Amino acid sequence: MKIKLTNDGSRTLYSEKLNASYHSESGAWSESRLVYLEHSGVDSSLGSGDTTNVLEIGLGTGMNFLVTADRAIKFNTPLTYTAIDNFRPPTTLIRELSLQSQLHTPGLETAWLNYYDQPIQHAQPATWVPPVVFTPLVGQAESLIQDENLLPSCSFDAIYLDAFSPAISPELWTEPFFGDLHRVLKTGGRLTTYCVKSVVQKRLKSLGFHVQTPAGPEGGKRQVLLATKD
Ligand SMILES: C[S@@+](CC[C@H](N)C(=O)[O-])C[C@H]1O[C@@H](n2cnc3c(N)ncnc32)[C@H](O)[C@@H]1O
Repeated sequence: MKIKLTNDGSRTLYSEKLNASYHSESGAWSESRLVYLEHSGVDSSLGSGDTTNVLEIGLGTGMNFLVTADRAIKFNTPLTYTAIDNFRPPTTLIRELSLQSQLHTPGLETAWLNYYDQPIQHAQPATWVPPVVFTPLVGQAESLIQDENLLPSCSFDAIYLDAFSPAISPELWTEPFFGDLHRVLKTGGRLTTYCVKSVVQKRLKSLGFHVQTPAGPEGGKRQVLLATKD
């Protein structure tokens, strides 16, 4: 695994084994901000002071998490963030991403690196930096998502679906998996992702999601995906 510089000056990870980047090569931070924080409605909900519950599929480096936590801290709005992953990149690589350079809250990257270095407390909510409560879930997302005690129905305002592509992680783009994501979203909740493949849109629509394809980040994908639970 190595560090990759993306076109907006931010860095991400690249897996040679999978031949896949953790973020868009046209801009890691731009993607985190627009596709996940903004299109999901989380930015405006935190800005309005509304307690917000986010589920992320694919925590990876934690960049999407930090972008979101940064806003919650700025507005002092409670954020509960649950993130699933089955792999944890080494801390040395996370340190090389220089995540602080794009964050407003002083010391946020250091807090993340300190937290990241500890053994993972699976399914244990912890007040990471107030007002942010973080719950890591370790394992296969397609199995964990079926656990209704862990992930109760209608409990999330937003889902960041940041899996690798359907070619690399097909298990995270199936209709049954999307059905589970639909179950855990609140009515009116939003699922966002970078992938606009027609088969993905078709599967989401068949479950009753209202699917839109807003513009992607400047210099990046022309369109990204926003699916709302009606
Ligand atoms: C595109 S990366 C996520 C990038 C991340 N959101 C970030 O901000 O750095 C995809 C992530 O999905 C994880 N992953 C792949 N297959 C998975 C599965 N079946 N269940 C859980 N996590 C999976 C990978 O380990 C990887 O961290």
